Amino acid sequence: MSKHIKEVSRLIRENERLVVLTGAGMSVESGIAPFRGENGLWQEFDAQKYAHIESYRQDPERSWELFRLQIEEIYDAEPHQGHEALVKMEEEGLTEVITQNIDGLHQKAGSSQVLELHGTLFTLFCPDCEREYNTSEFIEEVRENRCPRCECGTILRPDAVLFGEQLPQDTVNRSLKAAEGCDLMMVVGTSAVVQPAASLPVQAKRTGATVVEINLESTPLTSDVTDLFIKGKAREVLKNIAEKLYHQLFSSQISS
Ligand code: OAD
Repeated sequence: MSKHIKEVSRLIRENERLVVLTGAGMSVESGIAPFRGENGLWQEFDAQKYAHIESYRQDPERSWELFRLQIEEIYDAEPHQGHEALVKMEEEGLTEVITQNIDGLHQKAGSSQVLELHGTLFTLFCPDCEREYNTSEFIEEVRENRCPRCECGTILRPDAVLFGEQLPQDTVNRSLKAAEGCDLMMVVGTSAVVQPAASLPVQAKRTGATVVEINLESTPLTSDVTDLFIKGKAREVLKNIAEKLYHQLFSSQISS
């Protein structure tokens, strides 16, 4: 691993525009379940039944069984040293974090350039009158298994993208621009099976960038797109990279 850490540190030093794409694996060490794999959410919840726009319209209360669990998880989660490492990299020139995560942990750690491709769980809106709310206003109701309702009476929904819905177009455009404009893309903790996120590293590569992938296992990108694969946990690998780059130890309260 240390050879790879050295190599990626060299790449970060030598390349000007660095963009990071993150997925659920980035948040696992903060206690948030990923979607796929052994302890993945989609093992417990059928995505089509709980997280599809049509199933939501038919039975929002059923979808709230999933949303409730996700919201409780994110309200209890703290960013880890890997998130802090990306904050440090932003201070030193990392241009953008593109994330599929809806947990706000990059921002909570202090990253300011974050593109949330799949939206966020921190705001809710009314599908009827479109009024918006902060999820915090309803956290007690969520914890008490009640569905948050709009002033107009309709059940609210999170501002997160459901299956069968369009992604926020402006965020997609800005992500694509970031991918096409970068010299180095680090892809962290994503299974790279959901579009359009999975095509961003492909696009980055096509326009000349080097692609580094950090994951516990290989993905559809690994053999054809990735230039350097680092097998490991996001927190440890990113912390090691930042320490190598900036000779700085991280002060995270989360114990190593
Ligand atoms: P997945 O759950 O599909 O994949 C998580 C990836 O993280 C896997 O490749 C794991 O090997 C890796 N992983 C797990 N723990 C890790 C760790 N500690 N360090 C590094 N890697 C680790 O999550 P995503 O790829 O983010 O969309 O899923 C993409 C989208 O599919 C989600 O945003 C969600 C889902 O359906 C929507 O809900 C719209």
